[in-house]
Amino acid sequence: MPVPFDIDRRAFIASLGGAAAVALMDHEARAEALEEHTEHTLDALVTQNQGGAQTFPTVAELEEQNAKRTTRRGVGNLFVAGNNGTIRRLEKMPAQPTLVDFFKLRFNPANHVLQSATRALKTGMTEEIILACLLHDVVQALVKTDHGWWGAQLFEPYVPEKTTFGIRYHQALRFYPDEANGYEYPDLYKRTFGVDYVPPPHIQATYEMVRNHKWYMEPRLVTVNDLYAFDPNALVSLDPFIDIIGRHFRQPKEGLGNDSGPVAHMWRTLINPDAPL
Ligand SMILES: [Fe+2]
Ligand SMILES: [Fe+2]
Repeated sequence: MPVPFDIDRRAFIASLGGAAAVALMDHEARAEALEEHTEHTLDALVTQNQGGAQTFPTVAELEEQNAKRTTRRGVGNLFVAGNNGTIRRLEKMPAQPTLVDFFKLRFNPANHVLQSATRALKTGMTEEIILACLLHDVVQALVKTDHGWWGAQLFEPYVPEKTTFGIRYHQALRFYPDEANGYEYPDLYKRTFGVDYVPPPHIQATYEMVRNHKWYMEPRLVTVNDLYAFDPNALVSLDPFIDIIGRHFRQPKEGLGNDSGPVAHMWRTLINPDAPL
């Protein structure tokens, strides 16, 4: 599909973590990233053109756009066609896949979560929170809707309880600013959800529960590290997190998806999203 406006190449490359990070991406990953970037940039241009200054769409305007989509907004990244109109060919997973294999072969490019976890590491957060940051959005390969709950479910059998808590509830907390702890409502959400968006009742009730919970800071710190802009000079890698994964992720020896646990089917779906039934 032709791109309807000029891409700012520098901004695009910066958004992916810099030229070195782009060099490590395969063709399909670059195509996917480009599509995501153009979608965001187009949204921003449209909103800017509407009022001169930066304006944001309303909930009704976004709902109107849904009718023109070919996929639901909540569909997982692995199930969406790239900008050439076809889905990407997936590399085969090893017979006993580890979390690291999933990062390399199914969650890539994982710049957003790597950058979140890198910030948590640099600012001296606990290993449970660093792990929560590393895992907080990767379930979006499978499904985006209610990704906090889906993500927590995917990881619950394998990670510390506080990490699960952080993953599950970051989804609700990101709608509620907490400036004392360094979290502001991001402009990206005005663009993504609509400027007049009101979180649904289950999100409001969850926020009320979590803000009075003794573990409030677990999901709150995930939102604090949930960066929506990329540092153009940052080079992110999974390497600094291998030891933390080793200490806290209970990797089943038979491989994720083969472990007959309560969520093994979710891992199998990630292994083979091309299975027809
Ligand atoms: Fe998230
Ligand atoms: Fe995130």
